[in-house]
Amino acid sequence: MSETWNNRTKLVHGGTRRSQYNEVSEAIFLTQGFVYDSAEQAEARFLETGPDEFIYARYGNPTVAMFEERIALLEGAEDAFATASGMAAVSGALTSLLKAGDHVVSAKALFGSCLYILENVLARFGVEVTFVDGTDLDQWRAALRPDTKAVFFESMSNPTLEVIDITAVAALAHEVGATVVVDNVFSTPVFSKAIAQGADVVVYSATKHIDGQGRVLGGVVLGTKDYIRGTLEPYMKHTGGSLSPFNAWTLLKGLETIDLRVRAQAESALLIAQAFADHAALERTIYPGLATHAQHALVQSQLGGNGGTVLSLDLKGGKAAAFRFLNALTIPVISNNLGDAKSIATHPATTTHQRLPDDQKTALGITPGLVRFSVGLEDSADLIADLKQALAAAQG
Ligand SMILES: Cc1ncc(COP(=O)(O)O)c(C=O)c1O
Repeated sequence: MSETWNNRTKLVHGGTRRSQYNEVSEAIFLTQGFVYDSAEQAEARFLETGPDEFIYARYGNPTVAMFEERIALLEGAEDAFATASGMAAVSGALTSLLKAGDHVVSAKALFGSCLYILENVLARFGVEVTFVDGTDLDQWRAALRPDTKAVFFESMSNPTLEVIDITAVAALAHEVGATVVVDNVFSTPVFSKAIAQGADVVVYSATKHIDGQGRVLGGVVLGTKDYIRGTLEPYMKHTGGSLSPFNAWTLLKGLETIDLRVRAQAESALLIAQAFADHAALERTIYPGLATHAQHALVQSQLGGNGGTVLSLDLKGGKAAAFRFLNALTIPVISNNLGDAKSIATHPATTTHQRLPDDQKTALGITPGLVRFSVGLEDSADLIADLKQALAAAQG
């Protein structure tokens, strides 16, 4: 059945529920609630909700359920819960699991909002967090303790594209009984096999590649049925981070094309990274698909050699050069999303990672000259030509 389909078939047909009208394109059930045939039926449904029964859109909705089933099939997860944004997914995945007195080990190379949750929110509720260099297994080994309840990391970090060994970190974490929560956005649902590689819980900002066309916010948490329905769902449905049916529909349609889009974007990203690997205007070209990447061997074993859709260029000349470069681009837009059909250039030090103190930015490699470049679906030769002229402009 659908579990044995290959990914492209799962992405087009997985999870489809047809109404009595037998529509081809999935319906948007833009309703906050559902009508019961009788008071008895309402009572029964609140006691126990069956797989094709719904109560209230904060608890579940048929369009949202289609999205959850389709992404769970792709990821090879038992179940999924869709959320209002990627951050609702990250915060829900962690806070539903943790209580005061628990200990968490987290990689320190994190997106600013993820860091805020780990550093500020969890601390306020009495959860202790130890930060480690995620690429150093000795640091994970030293930080894990018998009371470590969860570990958290971005499998490919934003924006310096460090790749973390999911299998090895999961093996260490499981020795102390910790739950492994992986933010998998940069690895993408197309290239990642995080659950098969040992992750217990995988989170995505669906705002990125899953939508892939810059339209809606969304997120998803994937894991075992026990965790999703027993731990996460009660927390999410009572705290209000559920996904809207309209956004779920947009994301469902995004899934139909994600495999084609992400593979095309990654192909262009590799061509661009190769074209600029030794450019005189650059201190460094970071792309996990390049043989020069620090975790290149891991990219082969963990991601089948796929370096993803984002590269980071560290310009000589710091912020001034980076700004000259950004302002000279004619095709990519200056913005802060990624995974979009449109190429997007971002200056992390002054935008997505602005609130980090300078010493933390330096420690994480977020230099004043660093530009994150999310490769879109434009023609790669056009992008290379545009980047070339913008780098010339950056050199002033
Ligand atoms: C690694 C990572 N995690 C989580 C998020 C948050 O996603 P959202 O903006 O959908 O809340 C982002 C981007 O914004 C991200 O880059």
